[in-house]
Amino acid sequence: MPESRLPQPRRFLVCEPRHFAVQYAINPWMHPDVRVDVDLAQSQWRTLISAYRTHGHTVESVEPVAGLPDMVFAANSALVLRGRVFGSLFHAPQRRPESTAYDTWFKSAGFDVHRPESVVEGEGDLVPAGRYVLAGTGFRTTREAHREVQEFFGVPVISLELVDPYFYHLDTALFVLDDDTIVYYPEAFSPGSREVLEWLYPDAVLATREDALAFGLNSVSDGLHVFISPEATVLADRLARRGYIPVPVDLSEFHKAGGGIKCCTQELRS
Ligand code: ARG
Repeated sequence: MPESRLPQPRRFLVCEPRHFAVQYAINPWMHPDVRVDVDLAQSQWRTLISAYRTHGHTVESVEPVAGLPDMVFAANSALVLRGRVFGSLFHAPQRRPESTAYDTWFKSAGFDVHRPESVVEGEGDLVPAGRYVLAGTGFRTTREAHREVQEFFGVPVISLELVDPYFYHLDTALFVLDDDTIVYYPEAFSPGSREVLEWLYPDAVLATREDALAFGLNSVSDGLHVFISPEATVLADRLARRGYIPVPVDLSEFHKAGGGIKCCTQELRS
């Protein structure tokens, strides 16, 4: 019998894909010669926002900036924990100017923003999971940044090494269902990091490569509903059997830039 689960209302920050495009390639999904359908992207994105609102979540929005096509991936802007904002320092020079726009939004919303010293890409690689922050490295966020995050928040940071360039951010290979349960694709991690995950989360849900490539790990859970790519069918089934309710939302246009549901969603944790 699946356990009964309670959804927790969340506060999200998002950025409308008005200027979304693939103009450079900073991960293997991006091919600047592939056209992005901005109208389709806009309607897919609006479907995500209304799915969040329908399920009781608060959604706030930062004004998109022309010339910053990846700004729609709000999750990369910061890690927000206990009302404190640890800002980002992007790996790619093309994305660095996003920080100014996001920091301005955070300040206007009443947050102080910590400016990091090392390369770090927000919730893309920093995933709060109960008593820990799980932290990815290997492609973008540096280990120095992991140390800085631990010092800043006083929360144990667990460093995990990503090894497959298709899963270049931790949030493409792993997501949190609730404080004690995670979902991940084991092959995206180094052998040692895999052992760490097995040790910390013996009850984790594991995903197949197909589901991972369908951005099934780039999901958002509120503890009951899981906003998930509709192509991640095996995973949706596994989640349903554990008592979660998959809510399929198709962000296929964003996959062309290497992003999905979670990438478009920055959580503001109080
Ligand atoms: N094109 C963006 C990049 O490569 C995609 C970011 C996806 N965001 C995420 N949280 N995984 O930086």
